[in-house]
Amino acid sequence: MSNNQADARPSVVSVQTPSLSYNVHVGHGLLDRAGELVRESAGGQMAAVIADSNVGPLYARRVLASLERAGYRTAYLEFSAGERNKRFSTLVPLLERLAAAGLSRNDVVVALGGGVTGDMAGLAAALYLRGIQVAQIPTSLLAMVDSSVGGKTAVDLKTGKNLAGAFLQPSVVIADVCCLNTLSPDLLADSCGEIIKHGVLADEELFDALAARPVTSMRPDSDELARIVARNVAIKRDVVNADEREQGLRQTLNLGHTLGHAIEAGSDYALGHGSSVAAGLCCVSRATERMGWTEAGTTGRIERVCEAHGLPTDTDLAHDTIVSFATHDKKRRGQTVNLVVPQRIGKVALRRIGMDELETIVRLGCGTR
Ligand SMILES: NC(=O)c1ccc[n+]([C@@H]2O[C@H](COP(=O)([O-])OP(=O)(O)OC[C@H]3O[C@@H](n4cnc5c(N)ncnc54)[C@H](O)[C@@H]3O)[C@@H](O)[C@H]2O)c1
Ligand SMILES: [Zn+2]
Repeated sequence: MSNNQADARPSVVSVQTPSLSYNVHVGHGLLDRAGELVRESAGGQMAAVIADSNVGPLYARRVLASLERAGYRTAYLEFSAGERNKRFSTLVPLLERLAAAGLSRNDVVVALGGGVTGDMAGLAAALYLRGIQVAQIPTSLLAMVDSSVGGKTAVDLKTGKNLAGAFLQPSVVIADVCCLNTLSPDLLADSCGEIIKHGVLADEELFDALAARPVTSMRPDSDELARIVARNVAIKRDVVNADEREQGLRQTLNLGHTLGHAIEAGSDYALGHGSSVAAGLCCVSRATERMGWTEAGTTGRIERVCEAHGLPTDTDLAHDTIVSFATHDKKRRGQTVNLVVPQRIGKVALRRIGMDELETIVRLGCGTR
């Protein structure tokens, strides 16, 4: 990370995938430029903005005005905020309203909101007329650094999260960090679990920058946080570029998630996703360091950064509970799981492990700090 003087110009990270190339714009005040950015990337005559009941009242008016200035006819669709509404019964009325508004094949859906909106509006765009374009305008830190890039869309089923979805790369991603001013501090801190994960996964310089200055001590709309967002987008881009459909490398984004998902589910979802990932990351590193798979001292460094962001570094769940939730993970393949092992800060390895090894990792890493 550079410590150069603040640079208020937006950064543009370009993402190339086999199916589409697109730009991720990160900066200040970009909501008011949404129209021109959507126009130059997606074209079309009509733009349907989909937002949830929290984000819509805050930002939809500005985005709609900008789209109209760029010559779009607009429609606005709102749904009730919350993960529990990320399901088909919310999606179907959205599809009906896209049809009633008369969107055609060349038109564009604009997903304005956090990861729930991005996932659901993205899936609506993937299904409507067998697929129209989507522009992502992420407003939560999680959506900026994680969910808006990569082209995964989904809704939840009763059996589990994100079980029905599609791949649809966005035409453009517009991350206006000024939106983070209205995000709750708890959600902002929780998202740092994924940011720390990115540092451990691929970027020691980012990791050291987080250690020196936690994101939680930055002003949400500061240039330094904008630079962190852009760096995280580039890390996710590098992984997704290499592997759009999650065959190999993309799985490394699951670092901390095998145990993290189990810790999240074991808490009955009381613990946030990013906090669970932080705990899962510390637990797996603790175990693999003890097994000699991870450079000595790595876990201590990860624990200190998590603590500096107010994130948990361990769990007091029973080992049986963790193993049982971890093996229900949908990434399980037969009697093995693919575990992402931190080798040192900035480098990971994908390792297929058996159930006995998973049990050992839980025993060595969880509740043993
Ligand atoms: N597609 C992917 O690759 C991917 C990756 C990671 C996570 N996800 C999904 O993302 C979702 C979680 O994302 P999230 O944490 O953004 O959830 P979210 O969209 O529910 O947003 C969290 C809360 O913050 C509110 N909010 C968002 N931006 C705001 C702002 N600027 N000001 C005020 N309030 C704001 C929302 O209304 C909501 O109440 C999960 O459903 C997860 O499955 C998807
Ligand atoms: Zn995650």
